[in-house]
Amino acid sequence: MDQQERLKMIYQRCVEAIRPVIADMNITEDELHAAGQYFNRLGVSGMCPSLLDVAFAMTSVDATRRDKGGTRPNLEGPYYVANAPLRADGVLYDRSPPGDAPIITVSGRVLDVDTGIPIGGAELDIWHADQDGIYDRKGFYLRGKVQTDDQGRYSFRTVMPNDYAEHDGDPIGELFRALGRHNHRAAHIHLKIWVNGVERLMTQLFIPFSEVLHTDYVIGAVSDDLTLKVERANDVPGQGPQYKAAFDFRVNTRARLQAAE
Ligand code: BEZ
Ligand code: FE
Repeated sequence: MDQQERLKMIYQRCVEAIRPVIADMNITEDELHAAGQYFNRLGVSGMCPSLLDVAFAMTSVDATRRDKGGTRPNLEGPYYVANAPLRADGVLYDRSPPGDAPIITVSGRVLDVDTGIPIGGAELDIWHADQDGIYDRKGFYLRGKVQTDDQGRYSFRTVMPNDYAEHDGDPIGELFRALGRHNHRAAHIHLKIWVNGVERLMTQLFIPFSEVLHTDYVIGAVSDDLTLKVERANDVPGQGPQYKAAFDFRVNTRARLQAAE
C-alpha cells in the first residue's frame, strides 16, 4: 500500500470512529468549535505530540513494538540522555542520596525470547527520577549503564523513584483539570537494553508503592507485568530503607523492534 492509500484509509477510519461519538453524545457545533480552539492552544504551545503520547502512544507501542512472549515495551518519555556512564559497581547514584531516601536493588537476567538463552554482554541503559520525582537534567545522577555477565545476569542499585507531576501550566494540564483528574506519572524506572550495540528493548518498570499506579496519565503505560515485586532488604547503616526486586527481561535478538505477529 502506498503512503497516500495508507493516509486515506487511516483518515477514513478515524472519521468513521469519531462520528458515532458525536452522534451518541449529541456533540454540538459550538462544542466542536470549542475543541478546535483547544487544539489551537495545544498547537501554539507545541504540545500536540505529547497529547497523542498521553492518549494513544501505548496502543501504538503494543501494536508495533511488542514481541510475542517478550517483555512489554514502553515509552521513552522526554528525559532520556544518551551516553550515560557505565556503572561497573552497578550503583546509579554518583553522589550520596539524602540519608532518608529509600534505596532499591534490582537484579535479574536478560534472556533471548525465542530460546531462553541468557544474553551476556547486554547493556542496560537506565534513567529515572529521584525520591521526590525529579530527574537530573544536567548530569548523570540516577542515570547509567550496567552490563550482564556471561550468565545474562545484571544488578543495579539506586534511589527508589517517586511519582512526578507534569503539565502543570500547559494545555494538557488544562485538559486534565477539566476532566477532574491529576497530572501524575506513576513512579517508574526507564530502561533501554542494547545487545551488540543494537537497541532491543525500551521499557519502564513501575514501583508498586506508587499512589497513582492505576491512574497514570499515560493511558495504558502501567501493567502488572511491568510492575516490580518489591521486598524489604537488610538495613544499610547511614542509608534510608532498603528494598530489592527481581526482574528478568526477555528480548528479541532477531530483528530490531519487530512488529507483533
Ligand atoms: C515519561 O515516562 O517520562 C513520560 C512519558 C510520556 C509523557 C511524559 C513523561
Ligand atoms: Fe519518566
